Amino acid sequence: MKILITGGAGYIGTHTCVELLNGGYEIVVVDNYSNSKPESLDRVREITNKDFPVYAVDILDRKALTSVFTENEIDAVIHFAGLKAVGESVSFPLRYYYNNVTGTLILCDVMREFAVSKIVFSSSATVYGMQECVPFHEDLPLQATNPYGRTKLMIEEILHDIYQSNHNWSIALLRYFNPIGAHHSGLIGEDPNGIPNNLVPYISQVAVGKRDKLHVFGNDYPTHDGTGVRDYIHVSDLAAGHVKALEKVLQTEGIEAYNLGTSIGYSVMEVIQAFEENSGRAIPYEIKNRRLGDIAVSFADSQKAEKELGWTAKKGLDDMCRDAWRWQEKNPNGYEEKEQLLNKN
Ligand code: NAD
Ligand code: UD1
Repeated sequence: MKILITGGAGYIGTHTCVELLNGGYEIVVVDNYSNSKPESLDRVREITNKDFPVYAVDILDRKALTSVFTENEIDAVIHFAGLKAVGESVSFPLRYYYNNVTGTLILCDVMREFAVSKIVFSSSATVYGMQECVPFHEDLPLQATNPYGRTKLMIEEILHDIYQSNHNWSIALLRYFNPIGAHHSGLIGEDPNGIPNNLVPYISQVAVGKRDKLHVFGNDYPTHDGTGVRDYIHVSDLAAGHVKALEKVLQTEGIEAYNLGTSIGYSVMEVIQAFEENSGRAIPYEIKNRRLGDIAVSFADSQKAEKELGWTAKKGLDDMCRDAWRWQEKNPNGYEEKEQLLNKN
């Protein structure tokens, strides 16, 4: 069984490659390295002791993508390739719509040409937008509050239309909550460019001494300690969810959305405390104003994934913080290019 992984060199992609290889799948990776480095895939080889083809291809390049399908008999696709920074999407909406939406259109059209009709898509809890009540379940009306979120919403709708036009397609829309942590080996993890936007990558950089202190965005939310509450999920649990979703699309036809979360919400202060306990490092912080566009509370109702995919998250907040810290401590500068490391030694 050969699975094409678009965006496989990225944070969630690498962890999913590990789960797939360990599960006996053959994989083919396509990535343009716009937000990753080839080194991450060398680490996947190191963890799994398995090799696989990698194409430095942009999914917008239809000709190059077609060659990948010609050279490999692909059975299904897991589609991670996309840009994901909310703030950047507000400043550069065209870049986001072009890369994420047009990229997916090209991918799906090449799949159609090669009669590949099984796809697992990286959606996001961002498609729930501003909701009144938690937990979020899959049937809530969807809305997005920024261009990034709208690309996810549009792609979900496009995939629904594709299924309506041809019931041979089998599609899983995976709505991730807040993926954090890293593989327990400390060899792969999240490697943000520049100043991290997300909480745990920022905390990790404070812990390792790259940043002075964390800015806590708001302590006046209607939550138990006033700080925002989120459903953090270990990236390896999330990766395992992709294998379950893949099994499902390989066996059936249809289109379904699944929340991938733990169904537990933790506040920013609780995450800081857990990180301090698991790293042994103090995390200085300062309370700032709320971040525009943030909601007070978000956590998943994950029962559908449990019932229909046989998947639940197994790791807790301590595992997530311990593994995030192991990765950060072992790789203070993320994936360094091999030449950079050689120059240092
Ligand atoms: P990432 O940036 O680490 O990985 C995405 C990968 O896709 C990168 O390696 C990048 O180089 C590649 N890529 C981007 N555009 C491409 C293109 N046109 N052609 C080929 N490769 C391309 O991000 P991630 O955190 O691993 O996220 C993976 C997916 O999950 C994304 O679609 C993201 O929107 C979605 N998602 C992520 C989160 C999160 O918190 N990390 C939450 C919800 C949804
Ligand atoms: C953000 C994105 C969301 C995306 C998700 C991916 C925004 C508005 N939303 O969600 O679309 O799907 O990342 O994981 O960017 N916080 C701080 N200080 C920081 C960073 C964050 O206090 O430096 C707080 C936030 O206010 C929030 C919590 O930590 O309460 C989590 O923030 P973050 O990790 O950025 O995730 P989301 O806001 O849930």
